[in-house]
Amino acid sequence: CNTRHYVFNVEGAPYTRLCSTKNILTINGQFPGPTIRAFSGDRVIVKVYNHAADNITIHWHGVKQPRNPWSDGPAYITQCPIQPGKMFKYTILLSSEEGTVWWHAHDDWNRATVHGAIVIYPKPPNCYPFKYHQEFLLILGEWWKRDMKEILEEAIQAQNDPVSDAFTINGQPGDLYPCSKSGTFRMVVEQGKRYLLRVINAAMSNSLFFSISKHQLVVVGSDGSYVKPITTDYILIAPGETMDLLLEANQKPTNLYYMAARALVYQNIANFDINATTAILTYTSNCHKKPPSFPSLPFYNDTAAATNFTSKLRSLADGHHPINVPTTVSHRLFITVSLNSMRNETKTTLSASLNNISFEIPSIDILQAYYKRINGVFGNKFPCKPPLYFNFTADDPPTSLLAPRKGTEVKVFEYGACVEVVFQGTSLVLAEDHPMHLHGFSFYVVGWGIGNFDARKDPLTYNLVDPPLKNTIDVPRDGWAAIRFKANNPGVWYLHCHLERHLTWGMTTVFIVKDGAHPQAKMLPPPRYMPPC
Ligand code: C2O
Ligand code: CU
Repeated sequence: CNTRHYVFNVEGAPYTRLCSTKNILTINGQFPGPTIRAFSGDRVIVKVYNHAADNITIHWHGVKQPRNPWSDGPAYITQCPIQPGKMFKYTILLSSEEGTVWWHAHDDWNRATVHGAIVIYPKPPNCYPFKYHQEFLLILGEWWKRDMKEILEEAIQAQNDPVSDAFTINGQPGDLYPCSKSGTFRMVVEQGKRYLLRVINAAMSNSLFFSISKHQLVVVGSDGSYVKPITTDYILIAPGETMDLLLEANQKPTNLYYMAARALVYQNIANFDINATTAILTYTSNCHKKPPSFPSLPFYNDTAAATNFTSKLRSLADGHHPINVPTTVSHRLFITVSLNSMRNETKTTLSASLNNISFEIPSIDILQAYYKRINGVFGNKFPCKPPLYFNFTADDPPTSLLAPRKGTEVKVFEYGACVEVVFQGTSLVLAEDHPMHLHGFSFYVVGWGIGNFDARKDPLTYNLVDPPLKNTIDVPRDGWAAIRFKANNPGVWYLHCHLERHLTWGMTTVFIVKDGAHPQAKMLPPPRYMPPC
């Protein structure tokens, strides 16, 4: 296999957006950060030098890292953070991923500005199951005028949802925002050619609708796996997800076209920005261009449009790209995904939980504690079922029904277990969609639905033929989603909602997969240097 080398310098840099300048955390001064390009099966070494004043870690989102949790990155889960002035060498083991995945900081809210793309080509002589002339990256994100430390503080206070000032495309809010016109991202295409667009939702707070005026999109991949081509006017992309799209440049070259993204939100949150972030699609042509036309985007609360798109995703599942979905299950988990509220003497705060446990980050990482058998860092009592059955998606469930408890509980699997997890969204406090992300695996999304999961009827509707292979599943608002995977990657793997506020509030747990009997099924030894806590 090939080894590629990158150097990431974590450093502050001044960036001006929305008419004001602030210092943001970057990699090598770039926002969004540098792109990693590699072939399937390569090894990528990234030396991360922390020149900033705060701790940092980097996670390679969507890379399975076979047997190598040591370089996975989430702070206090698989490593202690890289302290100011220190360096950590990440070894990223690519395996079957092909398409687009990404990387981001995984400590506090640093990922707001510390993120970038990982572009993975099939190993020659293999090639993508589609042809294109040229490719573009479209990284969707968010801009906050205030310092991220203040936003983090607000998130920890948990009185409300911290709200950003604009969504962005490749770091730019776009034409519709003050002082943003000149920076708006422009994508130049040639009439008659086909392009690959690699879209990443790196935003902290919302799923986004995305579309391009007058042009259809053909979805061909998601989360580093291929899907059966879907021709569509818009996509929905949840935080953590990636989508590979083909675009035919087949419209009038004398016009300009807006690309736009808008957040999916369920209630009119005060101050919430339901404006769209935009970029411009333009054709090579010397003619004077008309002002751009705006695409039709689903409205901000169009849940039907959201589920309508998501339900179309299927694995390519052809002769060259077979699937391998477990047909029998050895371990079943039913996990409620809830927002909760907690009262103390002085105030009510928001909280979040999985199976009613609001996860508490330990003070040394779980991987180290597991490997060195250090007691008292975590418990292995993550429940397989919620402590109480109720009408999960009722209109007004009594919030007293399920006050969460705090804890650091993990679920341990034997190597090779065939796992099914049903995520059940609840309407306690607030019903939202929850993009659940699992480190260390891709999983098949075998079913989903609106309302309460019915353990007798719903499994009969599972798709075991061509379910999409994902690393992030957007559990629909007031609904459920079922995933399956084989626990064949020994290590310590984070499972969490990819909405940053929900992560902060405890909507997380950890799956530990024990080593297998075979030497090839054993966790790799730790690198000589791991950062200390
Ligand atoms: Cu993209 Cu644990 O995250
Ligand atoms: Cu969530």
